[in-house]
Amino acid sequence: MVDLLRMTKQDGGDKPMGQNLEQFAAECRRILKDTPGPDGREKVRALVEEVLKDDAFVAKHVGDDVPERKILYEDPDLGFCILAHVYHGAKESAPHDHGPTWAIYGQAAGETLMNEWALVEPASEQKPGKVRHVRAYPLKRGMAHVYNEGDLHSPKREGSTRLIRIEGRNMDKVKRLPYEKV
Ligand SMILES: [Fe+2]
Repeated sequence: MVDLLRMTKQDGGDKPMGQNLEQFAAECRRILKDTPGPDGREKVRALVEEVLKDDAFVAKHVGDDVPERKILYEDPDLGFCILAHVYHGAKESAPHDHGPTWAIYGQAAGETLMNEWALVEPASEQKPGKVRHVRAYPLKRGMAHVYNEGDLHSPKREGSTRLIRIEGRNMDKVKRLPYEKV
């Protein structure tokens, strides 16, 4: 964080300047390389919260032209991805995890009601898993949350939202197994 402030502080100004996508990606990469595992993701989560509050960054990368899923950056070495999402209208997703990887959900606009679930029965290729509801909480603008491997969750929204998300690997290339609520 100290590095980030030093890197982006405007000469003579008392407010740090926003960072660009390249700087953000490079900082995520440095953290995830130096600190693999949940501790590094927590540091990236804090960094995501910084960019979520950066109006210029959000306007540039999560604008009206962005579809439901846009990969802004995919790391050629570590495999993590930075994504922008613009979702229209209300929707409730099914409980899921991200298979062998993790994700960080960051709220750039609107509100997501996130639900968390406990595993009751594992999923297999033949049969959906079973999950029990644990808790729900809102993700409001500027908030980011980490879901590590196996953390079951389901986002719900009452209206349009914009998100910046990080995936440990590109989920387009990962097969997911379904879960049912008990
Ligand atoms: Fe998810």
